[in-house]
Amino acid sequence: MKKKVYITRKLPQVIYKKLADKFEVKMWDKTDQPVPREILIEEVKEMDGLFCLLTETIDQVVIENAPKLKVIANMAVGYNNINIQTATEKGIIVTNTPGVLTETTADLTFALLMATARRVVEASDYLRNGEWKTWSPMQLTGQDIYGATLGIIGMGRIGQALVKRAKGFDMNIIYYNRSRKPAMEKEMGIQYMELKELLQASDYISILIPYSSEVHHLIGEKELKLMKKSAILINTARGGIVDEAALFDALKTGEIWAAGLDVFEQEPVNLDSSLLTLPNVVTLPHIGSASEKTRLKMADLAAENLICVLNGEAALTRVN
Ligand code: DGY
Repeated sequence: MKKKVYITRKLPQVIYKKLADKFEVKMWDKTDQPVPREILIEEVKEMDGLFCLLTETIDQVVIENAPKLKVIANMAVGYNNINIQTATEKGIIVTNTPGVLTETTADLTFALLMATARRVVEASDYLRNGEWKTWSPMQLTGQDIYGATLGIIGMGRIGQALVKRAKGFDMNIIYYNRSRKPAMEKEMGIQYMELKELLQASDYISILIPYSSEVHHLIGEKELKLMKKSAILINTARGGIVDEAALFDALKTGEIWAAGLDVFEQEPVNLDSSLLTLPNVVTLPHIGSASEKTRLKMADLAAENLICVLNGEAALTRVN
């Protein structure tokens, strides 16, 4: 008898087929919205495998309702949407999609940094709103990127890929990470600093750490006050790492200069969010990994992980 797999969102046909050729597959394809929680809880009851996205909360309730489940394949490198402890206790393998999205996410991080520094979105709106009446000396002036100091919080794969881009702009690069990486410091010409020192020294601060309860609001009022008044904060990791209320105050009062945000504490961000009222915030709808090739690679890797585990083989990228 074929094993059963539940897919929580409509996938590209090629990935769906890959799974449907091997398993009895059911897919939530009614809308391009997350599967309602009650339906997910009902559907997982009989499933051997679950293919899910970061929009699904796979908590204790969901996991305990899935007695046959052997694998949860998350189509994301981050897996803070899954209760890893419960999954591990139940012997369920959790997989993610590292590696395949590194370069694409680093591209977007640098694009957001540049757009924020040079007020690209604001300047485009300025033109379209008919405000461009003349060229003038200090009109829409931003911050320089070349030669500036970039502080990277989290020197994992994406952090390292960002270093390569920043080097092309002659940036001085410092980093903070749970563990120091001396060989990399030498090889890439980057310098380690404690978080406090990094916040004080950076012109740009890029957050690239995975989210967990330990780093919830790692950047709050105190940390924002340490930054330069000309500092630009870029978050392409997870919204919960930054205290948004404190960030709003810091941006409004000129404590820092600007922020570029691809991620939010609540996603999709509420359109009433005070952050969206500020001209010095560039906002994106969590598109760090959103290139056609990369999203296909992520879906494919998640599918391969699921196939491996259900065939009794080792997962390619296992989390727990
Ligand atoms: C991830 O993979 O965790 C990103 O946030 C989405 O690509």
